[in-house]
Amino acid sequence: MLLDVKSLTKRFGGLTAVSNVAFGIERGEIIGIFGPNGSGKTTTLSLIAGILKPTSGVILWKGNDISNLSPFEVAQQGLVKTFQNPQLFPELTVVEHMRIACHLHIKRELGIGRLRTLIGGMPVGLDRLLEQKIDQVLALCRLSSQRNEHAAALSYGGEKMLGVAMGMLCEPELLLLDEPASGLGHDEIANLDAVLRDLKSHGVTLCIIDHKVGFLGRLADRSIALHHGAVIASGKTSDVLADESVVAAYLGKKHA
Ligand SMILES: Nc1ncnc2c1ncn2[C@@H]1O[C@H](COP(=O)(O)OP(=O)(O)O)[C@@H](O)[C@H]1O
Ligand SMILES: [Mg+2]
Repeated sequence: MLLDVKSLTKRFGGLTAVSNVAFGIERGEIIGIFGPNGSGKTTTLSLIAGILKPTSGVILWKGNDISNLSPFEVAQQGLVKTFQNPQLFPELTVVEHMRIACHLHIKRELGIGRLRTLIGGMPVGLDRLLEQKIDQVLALCRLSSQRNEHAAALSYGGEKMLGVAMGMLCEPELLLLDEPASGLGHDEIANLDAVLRDLKSHGVTLCIIDHKVGFLGRLADRSIALHHGAVIASGKTSDVLADESVVAAYLGKKHA
């Protein structure tokens, strides 16, 4: 198993945001995480990505406990999380953002110790290699035509896609996506769907949060549903979405 999460719990003071959550991810899958607002979805992914430290529980990545690593160390292992709203620099272009995001790739290429030697210029060949890599990822994310546009000129969907593209430059084996479809229009969602299927066919395993069920219902092979921080259903996505407790969590018991 690529990722194995066991009895994961996170408390903020008196509030238990994530409660005893357990699930696994196999290489090559698309896993969905559903749940209403406040159900603990973002906190769960932030714990896996090392952005938050668990109160208790274990996160195994290829069998090794990563629950005490920094986000940078986790990303270096091939586990990368994108943000619901990427923080971009309005006055920088798409390709300039991509160059900033290359730092992990550079570090992996050279070893962290040698990063210092980069100051004052990159070794011959490496910057050309990175530009090639950037072009590949931009094409994969359908951003090639916006290469030289300022981030300020991007649509909301374009901004979020740039966030995904920047995550891809870290060469993730598992990409964790926090509500990539939220706020997008119909065409942007269709575009996102196609991009994510392409990422999967390029060998990236995906774990995707969605708050609404439509988009991810079609995409995810398997899903878990959270409510008040706990897993209330898991398994085949269509079964999870039809589960009585999941319907009740979304609509309230009366409607279920
Ligand atoms: N840093 C934090 N400090 C205190 N409470 C938090 C923090 N982050 C999240 N929470 C709380 O934890 C619960 C789960 O939040 P979150 O994981 O963001 O839910 P979701 O992503 O499913 O909407 C919510 O009640 C939220 O208010
Ligand atoms: Mg969230």
